[in-house]
Amino acid sequence: MSYTVPKLKDFSPAALDKAASALLAALEKESASLANEADRKAFRDRWLARKDGVLTQINDLWLKAAPKDGKREVGQRVNTLKKEVEQKVEATRKQPAAATSDSALDISLPGIRRPSGAEHPIIRTMNEIIAVFRNLGYSVAEGPVVETDYYNFESLNFPPNHPARDTQDTLFLANQESKPPRERLLLRTHTSPVQIRTMEKLKPPLRILVPGKVHRNDPPDASHSPMFHQVEGLAVDTNITFGDLKGTLDHAMKALFGSDVKTSFRPSFFPFTEPSAEMFVSCFICGGSGKRGADSCRPCKQTGWIEILGCGMVDPNVFEFVKCNGYDPEKVSGFAFGMGVDRIAMLKYGLDDLQLFFQGDVRFLEQFG
Ligand code: PHE
Repeated sequence: MSYTVPKLKDFSPAALDKAASALLAALEKESASLANEADRKAFRDRWLARKDGVLTQINDLWLKAAPKDGKREVGQRVNTLKKEVEQKVEATRKQPAAATSDSALDISLPGIRRPSGAEHPIIRTMNEIIAVFRNLGYSVAEGPVVETDYYNFESLNFPPNHPARDTQDTLFLANQESKPPRERLLLRTHTSPVQIRTMEKLKPPLRILVPGKVHRNDPPDASHSPMFHQVEGLAVDTNITFGDLKGTLDHAMKALFGSDVKTSFRPSFFPFTEPSAEMFVSCFICGGSGKRGADSCRPCKQTGWIEILGCGMVDPNVFEFVKCNGYDPEKVSGFAFGMGVDRIAMLKYGLDDLQLFFQGDVRFLEQFG
């Protein structure tokens, strides 16, 4: 019920105080519920209107009705009360429109569309590769992109000054001459250092997959980039053979590229594997024929085969670096492989320019949403 000004019988200070505070409480309550300009105008009229506003009523019902000897006292109180009411009503004039007032909220405005993000095609390809090996019992390991010479080269059986280092076009960090050579920092040129890092931490048997960024001093063009991605694999156990390597990778390629692809292993060299091989898959673009209609097939350079990865049996010299953690080359054996993710993603999505992955052009990336 809204407030009405009571008639007073008792004009004692206590009774006046009580009546005044009831009035102010009502004022406070009403002022808090004003939602819009129309409400604020009605509120002002109700309290201040000359004809029958609340202030006019107190004048009539309280001041005029007061006994003669109390008039002075009542007059003073009514005056202070009037000032308070006027101030309060005045303050509501300046109140900003409440957020819920009908003038502030236009529910006919269209909403703000927030585009949902998408996995980058390289990350998506990495995740697909990881999923295939996860089903074979592999777990994921990671390591730093800024690596020491020891992990990137020395412990992988690249002796200092060995010419095999030259094949890696390494980017070294500047001003490291004061450090011993094996502690010098570089941008890792492959994900293979995570082989050693993981074998230092975990005892055999071990099956890991290592996705990550790597860097080499290659100028960017349609098929090269100074930064690219690899996925490394390592399996160590007793009695692991080259047959396990071939069977595992052949299965993985069929899972990734389709069950008709064939694999081919050709001899190669890496300091950290012996024997080493490069693995090719039959071209899933031209079906291995090297031709697309009358044209030659570009992705496989008309050979019918695409090089996918490097692999081999872990060199016993590598195990020597982690022998004290249970990797005795007399007792365990293993295989390792490393593949370039960017090239695989290009083949999967039929792209002819590697740079598209790294330019951040939303029109390109949106197509993978
Ligand atoms: N690290 C090698 C490269 O980047 C690939 C590789 C990994 C080869 C593991 C053999 C075993 O070229």
